Amino acid sequence: MTTEVRPLDTLELKERVQRMYEEVALEPEREFHFETGRPLAERLGYPAADLDRIPAAAIDSFAGVGYFLDLAALAPGETVLDLGSGSGMDSFLAANQVGPGGRVIGVDMTDAQLAKARALAAEARLAPTDFREGYIETPLVEDESIDCVISNGVINLSPDKPAVFAAAARTLRPDGRLALADIVTEHQLPEGITCDVALWAACIGGAMQRDAYRNAIEDAGFTITEWRTNIAYRFVSERADNATQKYGVTSISLLAVRS
Ligand SMILES: C[S@@+](CC[C@H](N)C(=O)[O-])C[C@H]1O[C@@H](n2cnc3c(N)ncnc32)[C@H](O)[C@@H]1O
Repeated sequence: MTTEVRPLDTLELKERVQRMYEEVALEPEREFHFETGRPLAERLGYPAADLDRIPAAAIDSFAGVGYFLDLAALAPGETVLDLGSGSGMDSFLAANQVGPGGRVIGVDMTDAQLAKARALAAEARLAPTDFREGYIETPLVEDESIDCVISNGVINLSPDKPAVFAAAARTLRPDGRLALADIVTEHQLPEGITCDVALWAACIGGAMQRDAYRNAIEDAGFTITEWRTNIAYRFVSERADNATQKYGVTSISLLAVRS
């Protein structure tokens, strides 16, 4: 007997992801399927001294999956685009690196995350940050205006990853960089997992098989120059942990250059 699997409902997925990350913004101390906050950031490799220079409330709502800012190697004066900027932790760290002559644009679809990032930016008076409402598949950002696109733990949540990588390529100037952390799998996940919106929102269901993920980046016009596994990242719930073991779900960080 075969069990029929309902196809992924992308509207339901979007609403579920928004509800989940609204809670991450408003009640970061709650328990989620994934870890959050400063202990996670430090374990992933974020330097404590850098975290000390940005608003603590942004770090409380951090829900990323790996460190990648060393790969981004941001320089003073650069313009950065953070896809899925959440409450702003990576954007604020990037702002400190590009300095007052640079700029960081964050794009996110969850109102509570945007409101928190904007309020913290206004208080902290860091280098210019601009948090925009929108989708990572279609960010409202000019063509070839960005030096480095960053993203942390977000692209796995998108049902259209090729569109996200195409948007990154479109907004980057020639030779611009894409530096990110995300979740991928060793083996293709079965439909029972990829059609489960709860597992998508928990950063597992949408994880792409790693060779397909690399191909999607290269098909968008990038050359991948660095790729590493973040062994320090782990999932919290038993269900998530089982999928992790069985299908080789892992966090990776990478650097790619627009050809
Ligand atoms: C796992 S959190 C990561 C946030 C932040 N990068 C961090 O490291 O804390 C995912 C964020 O991506 C946003 N997001 C997910 N899918 C999105 C999409 N398709 N377009 C825009 N934002 C999206 C969510 O609203 C949420 O704020």
